[in-house]
Amino acid sequence: MVSEEIERVAVLGSGTMGHGIAEVVAIAGYDVTIHDVDADALADAIDNIESSLEKLEESDSIDVSPAQALEAIGTTSVLEEAVVDSDLVVEAAPERLSLKQEIFSDLDDLAPNGTILATNTSSLSISEIASATERPGDVVGMHFFNPPVKMELVEVVRGDATRDETVEASMSFVESIEKTPIEVRKDVRGFVVNSILEPFIDEPAWMVSEGIATVREADAAMVHRRGYPMGPFELSDLTGIDVNYHIRTEANIPVPPIMERKVEQGTLGRKSGEGYYEYDSGPGADYESDDCEGFDTLRVEARMVNEAAKLVGNDVATVEDIDIGSRLGTNFPEGPCRRGDEIGLDTVLEKLRTLSRETDAPRYEPAPHLERLVDAGNTGVDAGSGFYEYDDVEATDGDQYATDGGSEYRTINYTVTERGVLEIELDRPDRLNALSIDLKDECLDLLETVDVDQIRCVTIEGAGNRAFCAGADITEFEQKRPVDVMDVSSFHEEIYDFPRPVIAKIDGYCLGGGCELALACDLRIATTDSTFGQPEIRLGLIPGGGATQRLVRLVGETRAKELVYRGNQIDATTAEEWGLVNRAVEPNAFEDTVEAFLADIVEGPPVGLEVAKKVINGGQDVHYEAALLLESQGYGLLKSTEDVAEGTAAFLEDREPEFTGE
Ligand code: COA
Repeated sequence: MVSEEIERVAVLGSGTMGHGIAEVVAIAGYDVTIHDVDADALADAIDNIESSLEKLEESDSIDVSPAQALEAIGTTSVLEEAVVDSDLVVEAAPERLSLKQEIFSDLDDLAPNGTILATNTSSLSISEIASATERPGDVVGMHFFNPPVKMELVEVVRGDATRDETVEASMSFVESIEKTPIEVRKDVRGFVVNSILEPFIDEPAWMVSEGIATVREADAAMVHRRGYPMGPFELSDLTGIDVNYHIRTEANIPVPPIMERKVEQGTLGRKSGEGYYEYDSGPGADYESDDCEGFDTLRVEARMVNEAAKLVGNDVATVEDIDIGSRLGTNFPEGPCRRGDEIGLDTVLEKLRTLSRETDAPRYEPAPHLERLVDAGNTGVDAGSGFYEYDDVEATDGDQYATDGGSEYRTINYTVTERGVLEIELDRPDRLNALSIDLKDECLDLLETVDVDQIRCVTIEGAGNRAFCAGADITEFEQKRPVDVMDVSSFHEEIYDFPRPVIAKIDGYCLGGGCELALACDLRIATTDSTFGQPEIRLGLIPGGGATQRLVRLVGETRAKELVYRGNQIDATTAEEWGLVNRAVEPNAFEDTVEAFLADIVEGPPVGLEVAKKVINGGQDVHYEAALLLESQGYGLLKSTEDVAEGTAAFLEDREPEFTGE
């Protein structure tokens, strides 16, 4: 879906970021011209884009063919040609202020009036770049993450003079290329994501410099105990210790001595064969889960939470955007605001105050916003509010209530529509909506606390365009026992037993625990792009969540064993033939098909549907006679309801019934 205001895009610079951004933009259906003064670099960019598009096509990740996307991309070495009829320019030149200012000054002469002038800088000031033009109101930061094709996040950053319209159009554009924008309202160094990342990298380096921890201890604790995707030192080695060093020295921030020493020695990380770990002559980042004993993770996370509080207090970004940014920009398991609420903001504040007293270092000075929250008793999850509110879901009058649950849930979104459909979205697209323990807890909490009387039907779908759900979160296997992570039974049973019909809307991967989730739903509607499978056996495990049994009932023992033993995937059409899904339809007919099911169900008698679900589900677990008894009890119960009287009267009066659930 292309944005209405923007049709033609120019990307300036053909390096990793430039060509990646151009590729993403072309996939979304825009015409894009890449500019680079170096003709060879342009040719390399096209080669790189072509091979990346082919990989994306192989993994079924794009809706357009590589040829179509390539056709939308032009190249030129003449700046004027690139920008002359552009609606949006994204500059992705090397990170030098003077160079960028020169480019923006040229754009002032060459780009049409009204063109959005965006810079992909990650570390320079938007306002300083904008000062090179006569139209700073049109200049905005559009910070993509590397590699743009894979990373979902884009920070949209206001300079001092950026107009609201420029920000709004940029946010819509980012959404139209299927990325998630967060708004950074002030031009602060590091924007949101790198501001939170900085203490994650630096604090362990201070601790190692002080001799109170080792590199391996820090990395092992942050990864194995706290669930971060990489250790801080491992990550520094990957990005380059010198890169981190220069960013800090240029901003006049004290540099941890160990970082300084590594730069002096020229051991800069992976690229020089040695950094905090040895790569050429050693095994690389070889920390183990046993190494994490004793490392003080609170000291690191307290600083990250404090940084988040500074951003919120200074109105740089919202709590939600900070957490989304950290999760999508750095793959952190949770954002710092949510993490702070879990630790307890009073504990965080106490830690910072102690460190501040002991060292006198300004980096531990508590953010006024953090102090305010704690003073007001908003100390986090246990107190019922912190950065977020943690009230139960309550129905209110009006069209919708608790529309996105954003204030309390991080891994799911939900809406209750006017006609009573509880729409749940599993929201971990960067992990193909894998079922983390938190996600299961949040779903459980929602289903247990939602006002059932307000609901006629539930739908469950996955965020993003790749997956319904790719199973239990395998990254949690390291911290927890796989069997615990896979212990999904209460989650699946809650859905199976929920007193309203539940529809799984499946578009993309539906694997492992995801397939089990779909099986626990009452009805399954899938696009023909979807695939189904129970790959657990490849991890040495078996399906959980009741799937071994439900699968046999739905597809029969022969096919169930084929799916479980072989662990491979079947397409949606086969799944429909096998009776695994109710319908497999082309993507363009998907929403209409779901709507047809919903229309019938939401108009149906709530109690009748509840009893039908109970009798059909419960009857399968008992012998035939008992099942018939269940049925006749249900029948008897329904006969006394107002809905049955209404249904019968409506039939006789030849009108549509209006069921109330009484
Ligand atoms: N748990 C945790 N993370 C998962 C995941 C899972 N079950 N499934 C996918 N992801 C993550 C990937 O690790 C990857 O993360 P990264 O970007 O940080 O590397 C991201 O989601 C995208 O997946 P990727 O593997 O790059 O996509 P793909 O198109 O190459 O492959 C799958 C898609 C679904 C085939 C593949 O991800 C897969 O096999 N997933 C595991 C399925 C499984 O075994 N489920 C049962 C678990 S009990």
